[in-house]
Amino acid sequence: MKQEYFTLADGHQMPKQGFGVYKITDQATLDEAIQAAFDAGYRLFDTAQMYGNEAMLGNALAKLPAKREELFITTKISEANQGYDTTIASFKESLKQLQLDYVDLLLLHWPIHETFFDSWRALEDLKAAGLVKSIGTSNYGMIHLQYLATQAREMPVVNQLERHPWFNQAAMLEFDRQHDIVTQAWAPLGRGRMMDEPVLTELASKHQKSPAQIILRWQYQSGISFIPKSAHAERIVENAAIYDFELSPAEMTMIDELNRNTRISQEPELVYELNHQYPHN
Ligand SMILES: NC(=O)c1ccc[n+]([C@@H]2O[C@H](COP(=O)([O-])OP(=O)(O)OC[C@H]3O[C@@H](n4cnc5c(N)ncnc54)[C@H](OP(=O)(O)O)[C@@H]3O)[C@@H](O)[C@H]2O)c1
Repeated sequence: MKQEYFTLADGHQMPKQGFGVYKITDQATLDEAIQAAFDAGYRLFDTAQMYGNEAMLGNALAKLPAKREELFITTKISEANQGYDTTIASFKESLKQLQLDYVDLLLLHWPIHETFFDSWRALEDLKAAGLVKSIGTSNYGMIHLQYLATQAREMPVVNQLERHPWFNQAAMLEFDRQHDIVTQAWAPLGRGRMMDEPVLTELASKHQKSPAQIILRWQYQSGISFIPKSAHAERIVENAAIYDFELSPAEMTMIDELNRNTRISQEPELVYELNHQYPHN
């Protein structure tokens, strides 16, 4: 995998391509996936309190032949743990589970109304205390970021968003760019649901790549960060092998035009209003 980094607005470097571990919840599978990802060149690993696998990820990372500074570890504060004191306390527990003394990126997993500014203040203080290198948001829309700016001492440097060919978030990408926020795509493969799209299968056979590789190359050429997940070593390798071909501007447009404005997950504004995600599947 080509090692490329974004320089974030706070000066820290973040790998462009990372590895997500949502729904990997047994130690043996996670150990194998993390080892395969590391061997394929991944250095950014993305977890969350909500995934219930921080301790397992900590165990898997401890087995890698890597220096701490080579790795970039992200976790996220769950809705239930938001609020000033609970963010701080739960994050310290996350560090313990991860067997780390700092994380590279800490995100608020979803915007919620109840504790909106207090949770962000906790992230600013954790960064000031050196327990976190960079702070950011996830699933924040324009309105949430504009509202945050009214009280924040510093703004998020990363906004992690659902983004795939059926939901390309063109307006959010532009907004983040204008505000010096790196967009990071979650579900960058659309959870595997759109591999049969004719545009993708046609481009795949033209470039002698898989539809997954076409989608990830589109993510890369869109100028954003992206964090595909797979529990299978051969797919982990496949998803990293996207740096030896190029999509033309016309091909990029063909994928852009697959947009349906349909989400896999929740509508962030509704999560904000309800203060939690509705039942999770
Ligand atoms: N901030 C948030 O709210 C949020 C929400 C969701 C996810 N995330 C993060 O983003 C990461 C990625 O998102 P995601 O896991 O939801 O979805 P994703 O990466 O778009 O897709 C993962 C799915 O695609 C399959 N897959 C992977 N590589 C493939 C390939 N080459 N060909 C065909 N299928 C393939 C995987 O199956 P196998 O595993 O069986 O190979 C899995 O079912 C997560 O792991 C998590 O770290 C963040």
